[in-house]
Amino acid sequence: MKRYKPPQQAPREDLSDIVATHLHTPWQRPIAAHSRVAFDAIRYRVEASSQPLIIDSCCGTGDSTRNLANAFPSSLVLGVDKSAHRLARHRRGEQGDYVMLRSDVNDFWRLAVDAGWQPARHYLLYPNPYPKASQIRKRWYASPAFPVLLKLGGLLTVRTNWGLYAEEFVCALNTAGFKGATKRLEIDRPITGFETKYLERGNALFAVFSDLDSNPDEEYGGTEF
Ligand SMILES: C[S@@+](CC[C@H](N)C(=O)[O-])C[C@H]1O[C@@H](n2cnc3c(N)ncnc32)[C@H](O)[C@@H]1O
Repeated sequence: MKRYKPPQQAPREDLSDIVATHLHTPWQRPIAAHSRVAFDAIRYRVEASSQPLIIDSCCGTGDSTRNLANAFPSSLVLGVDKSAHRLARHRRGEQGDYVMLRSDVNDFWRLAVDAGWQPARHYLLYPNPYPKASQIRKRWYASPAFPVLLKLGGLLTVRTNWGLYAEEFVCALNTAGFKGATKRLEIDRPITGFETKYLERGNALFAVFSDLDSNPDEEYGGTEF
């Protein structure tokens, strides 16, 4: 019989060591051929645009991608998710300039860095929390993909319904030499499918903000979006 493991209750003491290891170890995982094909299919569209680029990573059904495109009408928004099932449930908006891409961000982020893309903003809204302590390396900030996420740059916004995720995210940013601010969100109009669900359940919501392009003395406190 499987023993129940409760969610992690406090920040892991070895988080900084895990992050430091990823920062100093080259990531060997090969990029899948299908990820390159998917990237090449939208590359021209992104590179032909003179608008600032906003990336909405792990966008799920893409409600946030549509909402971001409405909120930033002079930007090009790119929603990325690996789930064909979720992307198929996307409801396209009438306004705003945006593109949806099916890809694993473990590959997409590296391809975008290699292509020299410099997003103005990067959103990571309600990533899977992997709440058991033993699952920490699956969380983005403790995964080998974290240094690539940092290299991609831009104003980073992460949202989560788990305060510990926000707290550990900031700790990981600090370990890598970046400032990070976290705040409790008061939201009237949810912008993603999961945000809607969490608000209906009465969950507390948190955001992490970091300016990945700034000099380390400046703190980015986020915007409404
Ligand atoms: C909890 S859902 C949140 C979706 C959306 N951001 C929202 O708030 O409604 C997490 C999403 O992350 C996506 N995801 C998880 N790992 C991914 C990866 N490696 N690459 C791309 N998408 C991923 C899943 O497919 C899922 O849609």
